[in-house]
Amino acid sequence: MITKIYNIKSFITYDTSIKDVVIKKLDSILIKDNQIYKINYNNNNDKIDNQIDAKNNIITPGFIDSHTHMIFSSHRANDFSKRISGKTYLDIAKSGGGIKSSINSLRNSSKDELFNKCNKQISYFIKNGTTTVEAKSGYGLTLQDEIKSLEVIRELNDLTDIDLVPTFMGAHDFPNEIKEKSSYVDLICNEMIPEISSKKLAEFCDVFCENNYFNHKQTLKIAETAKKYDLKMKLHADEFQDSNAAYLAGEIKAISADHLMKSNLNGLKNMAKNNVIATLLPATTLFLGMNTYASGKRIIESGCEVAIASDYNPGSSTIYSLPLVMALSCLYCGLSINEAFKAITYNAAKSINRENSIGLIKEGYSADILFWDIDNLNEIPYWFNSDRLSAVMKKGKLILKNNIN
Ligand code: NIG
Ligand code: FE
Repeated sequence: MITKIYNIKSFITYDTSIKDVVIKKLDSILIKDNQIYKINYNNNNDKIDNQIDAKNNIITPGFIDSHTHMIFSSHRANDFSKRISGKTYLDIAKSGGGIKSSINSLRNSSKDELFNKCNKQISYFIKNGTTTVEAKSGYGLTLQDEIKSLEVIRELNDLTDIDLVPTFMGAHDFPNEIKEKSSYVDLICNEMIPEISSKKLAEFCDVFCENNYFNHKQTLKIAETAKKYDLKMKLHADEFQDSNAAYLAGEIKAISADHLMKSNLNGLKNMAKNNVIATLLPATTLFLGMNTYASGKRIIESGCEVAIASDYNPGSSTIYSLPLVMALSCLYCGLSINEAFKAITYNAAKSINRENSIGLIKEGYSADILFWDIDNLNEIPYWFNSDRLSAVMKKGKLILKNNIN
């Protein structure tokens, strides 16, 4: 089946051959078998089955949220109010709130309850133009509850309109019931990773490598095990303090290191040397009421490719709008609008190992396409509530129809 999208104003995409974001005039494109089949279509002999009037909109690739913790079962608005009255994220975590309280509620939810809660959130992503979401486990911290979370990700991927990319994050915190930290690391390495890998429930493994959480030795042990089981590594690195986690991300050749608010230059350079994508999460800095935004400029000058993502989770970022994340990365991290756009399309795809299938408007790529009622790229972060988003297409199917159908 071939669908023709016509009456397009222009398209914006990162172009890998000229290594820049381009905006090009284009009247129509053809979609076949869920993919972009022909760009710059000139009345040839293809039989068109279906037509979509783009109403003179600009089109872009669907956005990719490469870092979320969307598998949770209860909100933490009480933590939010404690922070407003002066407590820090780490104070709240130490007094039993934070990640630990999300663990209790996830453990008390059945798989069906958890699925239903998470399923409701899918529409929030779609309304803001996100067509692929990386989702981490990490609020279970027992073999059974981590598997429950990863199975929910698999079901959401199978049953919803967008793609979910699964990351195992058993190393999100240490569970209360295990007294020795080393015993929990052993449980991750000896039981969780082997079982999750044999069930093919994850593609990536993430560790919260930070003072008070997982130290270098523990992170290294998990990374070595993950590698043995074909899981690519990601790290939460230097979110609150510089624990030299960026440097470690380079040593273990992680696919990405995320946060980097406090990373030192040597660490960033080691990431660049080892092709680790630097993922900035400025929505977290905003939501935590902090002003320690990661410096995108310094990170780019160190030689790293930069992705940006929402970090959507119940404690440190309830933001899922990537246009807003784009705006924050420009306002506070020093990215240009072109750099921010590349960061939620091509580089985000790279950070989840999908740069050959999503993140570009290019023949052979998945037909994940956003339709915007705007005049130029600047307007995407400018109207960061996504109200100018006319429609969202995923794999050739319109999954959100505001003004286009
Ligand atoms: O990326 N830092 C660790 N994980 C999340 C927060 C998770 C939570 O507070 O529930 C983050 O900020
Ligand atoms: Fe995170």
